[in-house]
Amino acid sequence: MTLRPAPAAAECRAQLRRAAAQSRRSRSRIDCTQERQTMVQVKRICCIGAGYVGGPTCSVIAQMCPEVTVTVVDVNEERIKAWNSDSLPIFEPGLQEVVDSCRGVNLFFSTDINNAIKDADLVFISVNTPTKTFGIGKGRAADLKYIEACARQIAEVSTGCKIVVEKSTVPVRAAESIRRIFNANTRSGLNFQVLSNPEFLAEGTAISDLKNPDRVLIGGDESAEGQRAIEALRNIYEHWVPKKKIITTNTWSSELSKLAANAFLAQRISSINSISALCEVTGADVEEVAHAIGTDQRIGSKFLKASVGFGGSCFQKDVLNLVYLCEALNLPEVARYWQQVIEINDYQRQRFSSRIIGCLFNTVTDKKIALLGFAFKKNTGDTRESSSISISRYLMDEGAHLHIYDPKVKKEQIIQDLSQPTASDDDPNRVSRLVTISNDPYDACENAHAIVICTEWDMFKELDYEKIYKAMLKPAFIFDGRRILDSLHEQLQQIGFQVEIIGKRISQRISFTATNAEAPPSKKIKL
Ligand code: UDX
Ligand code: UDX
Repeated sequence: MTLRPAPAAAECRAQLRRAAAQSRRSRSRIDCTQERQTMVQVKRICCIGAGYVGGPTCSVIAQMCPEVTVTVVDVNEERIKAWNSDSLPIFEPGLQEVVDSCRGVNLFFSTDINNAIKDADLVFISVNTPTKTFGIGKGRAADLKYIEACARQIAEVSTGCKIVVEKSTVPVRAAESIRRIFNANTRSGLNFQVLSNPEFLAEGTAISDLKNPDRVLIGGDESAEGQRAIEALRNIYEHWVPKKKIITTNTWSSELSKLAANAFLAQRISSINSISALCEVTGADVEEVAHAIGTDQRIGSKFLKASVGFGGSCFQKDVLNLVYLCEALNLPEVARYWQQVIEINDYQRQRFSSRIIGCLFNTVTDKKIALLGFAFKKNTGDTRESSSISISRYLMDEGAHLHIYDPKVKKEQIIQDLSQPTASDDDPNRVSRLVTISNDPYDACENAHAIVICTEWDMFKELDYEKIYKAMLKPAFIFDGRRILDSLHEQLQQIGFQVEIIGKRISQRISFTATNAEAPPSKKIKL
């Protein structure tokens, strides 16, 4: 048998080489097409929702990416007008400077939503996702009506290719709903990639959180197009965030991570608040306990500050959302576990309110109480889910006259928050009868029976408490729901104040004698 001549083998190799080259050429043609379709380089960003998340996030993106044009749009004309003025609609340290540095250059605020979407390569959806107040999942599930409306609007007005990014916290698999809306409304030449890019900023520190984040999380489809969309968004963040801090995952992991992060943070606060109740009846001090356990590196020291309970637009909503998700997925034990985080938070608010009433001789009816701080935390004017609202309501239910002072919350906002109908309130004039908004903390405290500190504003540490004491009714009480006056306790007691604080039983109210000094009576908290 003779071997095949060499030229035939060479021809074969040549044929293979040609086929490979052909295949490479056709692959690169597909790549180019896909690349065009997924717009790898983002030049124009649109953000729908000019709220606490959309506004600061896009302002920082605009400042950090001068070659990218960022347009933030909102249905609320007043809000957009304020973003275009010198009086921004939200108070956030450092935000004004960021906005001033790029507004009108590459940062724009507008109500022309359709054109902003049309022009953009990448659209952030940053609208609110409130807890449902009716229907299936009422009180727990997130209402996605605004997200859905945005998806439909994007599908309707878009041409070409867009990357659509969910920034709003959403239930796991919400991106799937957005994708389905896009798929059902697709037209020729349209191509959408949906990413999840949850925001982890906290209010009051939003600008530093955005400029120096612990991490940026981007979740996307595992397909090649999905990965290219992730790359495009990653390129934006890489303008200022180190590569190693940008985590990429699949879409569902990203969505769940946001809910889980907020649930873990909320759970820490409920954990320390549950310990604060124990401290108040044992003689331990929750600040000392928090310090002692927080030095264990495995536990860590952050988010262990006992308080009147957590507030804010995210914690309660996201934990409830997680509970609902677990119930819907037939995981009742997991649902109950997370539900308890909310129950301890409610318990803490109720416990603090009951303590105020108990100390004021079991009645606050017609007594003046100065409530200092209405925002859900310091350095923000935001009152969403603020514990001040619940505490005010408990005290109003008992007929107390509240004089409320907050350095950043507007009067109308406080009145609106307290005027929301509740089961316990059948008097339409209750708020106007019982609530006064003060422009000055000293006015709020004048002739008051008690001061209740609900927000940890630094200025409350600097007040002239001697002057305040003189103008108050006696005995004069201070209830520190934030533990901001710890270093002043001795001084306050010397002035004459009865000091009551979260997570510690102050000995002044217990008369020690030779016979009972060994075992001071434990004060029963009335619930
Ligand atoms: C919101 C969500 O509440 C939160 O879950 C998510 O993580 C981020 O987005 P925030 O920015 O704090 O948080 O909400 P908000 O300040 O209420 O801003 C939302 C804005 O969207 C509002 O200005 C609202 O007018 C706007 N909006 C809402 C639209 O422009 N279009 C809509 O269809 C709905
Ligand atoms: C939170 C998350 O921190 C943030 O990552 C996410 O993007 C949005 O939700 P925010 O609600 O703005 O941010 O403020 P945060 O600082 O988390 O405080 C939430 C509430 O918990 C406040 O009422 C605060 O006073 C309270 N809190 C916080 C405590 O009571 N004790 C603590 O130790 C920490």
